[in-house]
Amino acid sequence: MPFYHSLGKIPHKRHTVFKKPDGSLYYEQLFGTIGFDGMYTNMYHEQRPTQVKEIKGSYDATPQVATEKNIKSYRFKGFQVKPAPDYLESRKVVLTNSDVDITLAAPQESTKDYFYKNSDSDELLFIHKGSGKLRTHLGNLDFKYGDYLLIPRGTIYKLDFDDEVNRLFIVESRRPIYTPKRYRNHFGQLLEHSPFCERDIRRPYELETNNESGDFLIKIKKQGRIFDMVYASHPFDVVGYDGYNYPYAFSIHDFEPITGRIHQPPPVHQTFETDAFVVCSFCPRLYDYHPESIPAPYSHSNIDSDEVLYYVDGDFMSRNDIEAGHISLHPAGIPHGPHPGAVERSIGQTETEELAVMVDTFKPLMVTKDAMEIADDKYHQSWLEH
Ligand SMILES: [Fe+2]
Repeated sequence: MPFYHSLGKIPHKRHTVFKKPDGSLYYEQLFGTIGFDGMYTNMYHEQRPTQVKEIKGSYDATPQVATEKNIKSYRFKGFQVKPAPDYLESRKVVLTNSDVDITLAAPQESTKDYFYKNSDSDELLFIHKGSGKLRTHLGNLDFKYGDYLLIPRGTIYKLDFDDEVNRLFIVESRRPIYTPKRYRNHFGQLLEHSPFCERDIRRPYELETNNESGDFLIKIKKQGRIFDMVYASHPFDVVGYDGYNYPYAFSIHDFEPITGRIHQPPPVHQTFETDAFVVCSFCPRLYDYHPESIPAPYSHSNIDSDEVLYYVDGDFMSRNDIEAGHISLHPAGIPHGPHPGAVERSIGQTETEELAVMVDTFKPLMVTKDAMEIADDKYHQSWLEH
């Protein structure tokens, strides 16, 4: 997040002697992205963070692709993804390309015997069902329904869930995920016309500092493989840090919709951006107020981007037969638009309760085998008049 945050204790000057009460040194680590050009944090460990004991093995976590080149629209019934006890095993990639994996997960248990770190990607977790605590080496964040959790690459984390019914929509991005640049001023501050501001961003508030030695398993994702690395020191042994690179939470319910007299295009819903895709939040809002406005969108050709919509709650005005947890894929190359009757239905309506998350990718997405198991194979014909 492009604003400064500090938690725990840090020395007056960076890269200087920082002593423990017993006179020995804390160990500094610079935690950054994009080499030394991106956002970074300086943190201070009880023990050296480099004490690898053993590399126990690895397994391939690359998604199994069913359709590499796709021009067919799909609807996927996300809640048909089977719950699984373990967080990592519960994650099912449904759409993928070289920039991003779009994943559904229904974990039933908190992460127990291991820590997890994704060194390939930033992870954006959207909490559809469930609540709990994201625990990281940079502090903790509480989460509940409607929260986005942005976890920068390299963050070591665990998820503690309050109960066993959890549904997550996860975007794994090989490019860093930022707030939209057009909403930030020269100094990085979110501007007045941004649909959210720094006050809506929740930063880690609770630093766990554990100075244990022993065997600590970190499952590290790198190049699509999960490596089981055993470290000699507890991964949460940071006594303090400061900088710009840390996980944060933002609730979709804190997104302030931008409305107008006539239909506003999808970019007004934009919440996050990368070089390879955007993420938008469609939130409950008042409809367009021109006396002859058509609130439903017009058909549109997303000729060079794939559109993924994840339906969260409320009636989705432009679609027939869509339920919470469904995903629609409208691929690049062909137009899509409201279902039959949706335009007429929308005229005269004054507000919508729809809640959805949209991911538009600039490269085509591949459909995975896991996605095909929950696919509605006839969705592409659902615009035909019956
Ligand atoms: Fe669209």
